[in-house]
Amino acid sequence: MPATIIVGLQWGDEGKGKATDLLAESVAMVVRYQGGDNAGHTIVLGDAVFKLHLVPSGVLYPHITPVIGNGVVVNPQTLLDEMAMLQSRGVATGNVRVSEAAHVIMPYHVALDGAMEARLAGDEIGTTHRGIGPAYADRAWRVGLRMADLLEPRALRARLERVLPEKNAVLAQTHGGEPFDLDELVARTTDWGERLRPHIADTTALVQRALSKGLHVLFEGAQGTLLDLDHGTYPYVTSSNPVAGGACTGGGIGPLQVDEVIGVMKAYATRVGSGPFPTELADETGRHLLEKGREFGTTTGRRRRCGWFDAVPLRRAVAVNSVTSIMLNKLDILSGLPQVRLCVAYRIDGHVVEEFPSSGDLLARAEPVYETFDGWDADLGGVRRSDQLPPAARRYVDALEQLAGVPISIVSVGADRTATILRRERPRRPPLSVPALAADPSTASPAPAGPGGTPAAAGDGEPSAP
Ligand code: GDP
Ligand code: IMO
Ligand code: MG
Repeated sequence: MPATIIVGLQWGDEGKGKATDLLAESVAMVVRYQGGDNAGHTIVLGDAVFKLHLVPSGVLYPHITPVIGNGVVVNPQTLLDEMAMLQSRGVATGNVRVSEAAHVIMPYHVALDGAMEARLAGDEIGTTHRGIGPAYADRAWRVGLRMADLLEPRALRARLERVLPEKNAVLAQTHGGEPFDLDELVARTTDWGERLRPHIADTTALVQRALSKGLHVLFEGAQGTLLDLDHGTYPYVTSSNPVAGGACTGGGIGPLQVDEVIGVMKAYATRVGSGPFPTELADETGRHLLEKGREFGTTTGRRRRCGWFDAVPLRRAVAVNSVTSIMLNKLDILSGLPQVRLCVAYRIDGHVVEEFPSSGDLLARAEPVYETFDGWDADLGGVRRSDQLPPAARRYVDALEQLAGVPISIVSVGADRTATILRRERPRRPPLSVPALAADPSTASPAPAGPGGTPAAAGDGEPSAP
């Protein structure tokens, strides 16, 4: 089974690192397709804990080629430091590959990110200050530098000569910041290029070759659907597309090469940074989730805001990602709560709303409509089969599955790889069939499969194919 995408269904930190790790055995290549070192993916292997920001989680396995795709923005210093950290812990990094077309996060991007956040004081996005937004803005503005540029010092200097005066002017005049020196920047970027030369490659060709050989390629998303630049809670989002479609543009595949999309979510909600969060809890339960769930940012150490699971954006996330199955993490963290609640709709200005509003203002006014479930006390850390879960926990998982409309195939009850319940088969998209040259009514194909392999619903009022 060649191509699987792992995508966060909430506001990030759903446990995508654990999901990648769980599938690692069968996988030949793991590709990061968007974001940068704003991500923080934690993998627990026995007593060892690895926190990775830029290098794909697959790096921990010698049989996997870790690939940083063209859709990622790369801070070369972070990449070098992360590879050095991994080497010092006995993890080989010689086969890490980074796309020649990936954009470079330059020191002025980091400075501008911090300066713009400071300027917005009180109304800031709450970014990770890693230069993500400014680097993607320059990519769209066509004034960015790409990894391949680091290998051409003369051309690099010429490009920086054009770009730097404007960056320095904005930094100095608008933000009162320190300008960057051209010679120093050229020296620094040239040094990055020399050190990263063996890793810089045409990663689209690598990915396509692996797929054509029938190897299993995993696309590891960073952040989550609700932080997506298009589908998230704009402007409180990141500057890339974590949704599954991002794996096509940022990983070098076409949409029909995707066989499986695993949506990762946790049994409650968290959010780092600013922006609306209808189910946020500022009470004892919020503290329970924060402390028991150790909800502190992997990248910035910030407290994550915590709340009940919100099924309103879940339906949207399943749809826009073509999720084929779900991995539900951190069910163990809900143990010990007298009741568990699940938001199934919003009340906005007196109206009950079931569709996730695209307007941030509406979302900010949304009051959650909850379904309430009995809690459970048992420690779930040792549970390995669904039928060993307390009945109340099973009812909660069943309700989440019902609301998602696709199977919850994997349930996680602890950070370690072994603390996992394989609950159901993971359905995949059926193999492509070659279209017939002429339609023959006597051999008309059955209804196409919908998400989860179930036949698509008919007669629901939506337009249907002629
Ligand atoms: P990611 O960014 O989506 O990879 O998620 P993070 O690594 O930022 O945050 C998830 C945290 O939860 C990590 O510390 C994981 O080790 C941990 N984790 C993942 N699954 C479980 C689980 O089922 N139970 C518990 N207790 N911790 C988990
Ligand atoms: P992983 O991959 C959670 C959030 C920031 C901020 C917003 C924009 O570990 O799930 P940015 O620095 O990207 O411009 O910040 O996005 N954010 C994340 N929140 N998990 C992440 O990554 C995040 N990466 C960015 O907190 O609200
Ligand atoms: Mg994280």
